[in-house]
Amino acid sequence: MLKEYNPYLEYKGDDLYLDDVSLRALAEEFGTPLYVYSGSYIRDRIRAYTEAFPEALICYAVKANFNPYIVTLVKEEGAGADIVSGGELFISLRAGIEPSKIVYAGVGKTVKELEYAISSDILMFNVESLMELEVLDELAGKLGRKARIAIRVNPDVDPKTHPYISTGMKKSKFGVDIKTAKKEYEHTKKLKNLQVVGIHCHIGSQILDVSPYIEASQKVVELYYDLIKEGFDIQYLDLGGGLGIKYKPEQSNPEPSDLAEAILPVVKEVKAKIILEPGRSVVGNAGILLTQVQFIKDKGHKHFVIVDAGMNDLVRPAMYEAYHHMVPVERKDRPYIKTDVVGPICETGDFLALDRELQAVERGEYLAVLSAGAYGFAMSSHYNVRPRACEVLVEKGKYRVIRQREDYEYIVAL
Ligand code: LLP
Repeated sequence: MLKEYNPYLEYKGDDLYLDDVSLRALAEEFGTPLYVYSGSYIRDRIRAYTEAFPEALICYAVKANFNPYIVTLVKEEGAGADIVSGGELFISLRAGIEPSKIVYAGVGKTVKELEYAISSDILMFNVESLMELEVLDELAGKLGRKARIAIRVNPDVDPKTHPYISTGMKKSKFGVDIKTAKKEYEHTKKLKNLQVVGIHCHIGSQILDVSPYIEASQKVVELYYDLIKEGFDIQYLDLGGGLGIKYKPEQSNPEPSDLAEAILPVVKEVKAKIILEPGRSVVGNAGILLTQVQFIKDKGHKHFVIVDAGMNDLVRPAMYEAYHHMVPVERKDRPYIKTDVVGPICETGDFLALDRELQAVERGEYLAVLSAGAYGFAMSSHYNVRPRACEVLVEKGKYRVIRQREDYEYIVAL
């Protein structure tokens, strides 16, 4: 069953291994909470995309996991970057990703960020409003550059995922309405420092059924032909990210090849290059969060396993009521209990699991929280003055720290 999450995750004897490295040994050496990522898995996932979409540009969504070593690793596999901030641009460039493979979305880009990206000559700004078009044009003019743009259109498709991560529906803040997008495209004809090169759309995240992608790409293709007729030179269709992963044991998830089967027939006749922006489906199941059991507490009507990873380390359960599967790092025969797995933070919402059937664990034992590679460390914080976790990259039996554990001095240093 573990192999369905990640083929490099397995028990050897009674110890859990990731990419041929013992997780218990890592927890003992580096302490917990500890994020561990499998390099082999991340490479496989990028390859799965490039094989399924041989003609496309795969821009890894840096927001899912911005660790510079991870970004370097996806770059080594030929990926570009999908960014949403100046910080992500900085990390992408530093990792050696060519500007010609960087696309930049986001509803609230600042002047400083826009100028940084214009000067860096990135492939394309995915512009989200008319006002942004005007500001970008002005800034590009000032810098004596031409900015390449796509307009992010909102196809009003229901991705059937958690409402907080549905981004392509009418009421969402993202993009412009696809039905009236021609107005924004027409407006660019007045803006001399912009060059329209694409259409962008991203409908949401953790999408487990590919049919919303078909619907969205059909709408984008319709717009493509309309724009071509109007004389626009559309060279890129950026269809965003969002492919879902397995979180629950009973869940099955689409592969990049399923996405290709869904989308490629729709865009077959289109002359533009396809861009995809996968994040979670590249790194999500690469990563594990290791945590140590601190206390066990039985209130009679309710049982608690209290661990040292809190919502400051992994906020997804608190924020989206997300399910993360958990297994003991040491395998042994023991009964299952129904328990809440909770962290040390002073919030009722600070849980990793509620009413979970978990094998009974003891104080001091390690638990592996699965599917933690995406939006795990990336969304972590110092809440309750807790230094952020250490991150380790493992590959084929080798390991290295890719971010040290913070300490108290680090937290107050600035
Ligand atoms: N492109 C754009 C424009 C995006 O906004 C996103 C994610 C992606 C690509 C990558 O989507 P992915 O392939 O990772 O699904 N924190 C939430 C997820 C928020 C996603 C935001 N945008 C979570 O933990 O589930």
